Amino acid sequence: MWDAMLFSGGTETGPSGPGPGPRRVTMVREHLADLPEHALPEGLSLRPYRPGDEAAWVRVLNLAHPRRTFTTETFRAEFGRDDEVIARRQLYLCGGDGVEIGTATAWFDDDYNGKSYGRVHWVAIVPTFQGLGLSRPLLSAVCRRLGELGHVRACLATYTSRVPAVGLYLKFGFVPEIRDPRDAAAWRLLRESLPDGPLSRMEL
Ligand SMILES: CC(C)(COP(=O)(O)OP(=O)(O)OC[C@H]1O[C@@H](n2cnc3c(N)ncnc32)[C@H](O)[C@@H]1OP(=O)(O)O)[C@@H](O)C(=O)NCCC(=O)NCCS
Repeated sequence: MWDAMLFSGGTETGPSGPGPGPRRVTMVREHLADLPEHALPEGLSLRPYRPGDEAAWVRVLNLAHPRRTFTTETFRAEFGRDDEVIARRQLYLCGGDGVEIGTATAWFDDDYNGKSYGRVHWVAIVPTFQGLGLSRPLLSAVCRRLGELGHVRACLATYTSRVPAVGLYLKFGFVPEIRDPRDAAAWRLLRESLPDGPLSRMEL
């Protein structure tokens, strides 16, 4: 239910519409050239999904989004049941002990703005490992994966409340999609939280 809300235009914690609360915003990168490369710190590893990883995905997502509840049903609703497809597209960032501390998925949307896009989907790092720069190698790998899978452009959805995520996506060359005055207002609000980045040079 909430995931339908997340990706169909509702707000993250409140009802749809112009009221207070986080607003869903979307970003695109119209090419996948010149992607930032960020190496993994020593001792950490990245690996693709293996059958049974639903539990790890659920654990990481529940830790990263403490006000939400993720279950294996959520996982299947998001990614379907074809484990081969998921293994091609889903990555796990693991600590030195092999335990999963982050995940992101190089998903797809065959009809986004009338075109086929790769979708950066469900990026999450567990709180104890946040703020250490680990999302950058994870996002590098996911964007690279999208290119390897034949995608030539990428999209994503996030919320105005996700300031670190928006800062990260801007650094990776994703640009805001502004479809109406409410989008413009949402991005002006984000610019206040991210005054030093590319938003400061954009007309919003
Ligand atoms: C968003 C998330 C994936 C970022 O991961 P992270 O490993 O903590 O972030 P990093 O330490 O790699 O920082 C990456 C960039 O995020 C931005 N960032 C991080 N913390 C920030 C903050 N407090 N304010 C603004 N920007 C911030 C910066 O652009 C930073 O780049 P910089 O270090 O060059 O300035 C992580 O915080 C998370 O899982 N949050 C909860 C779930 C979520 O919001 N997922 C994304 C939903 S779309």
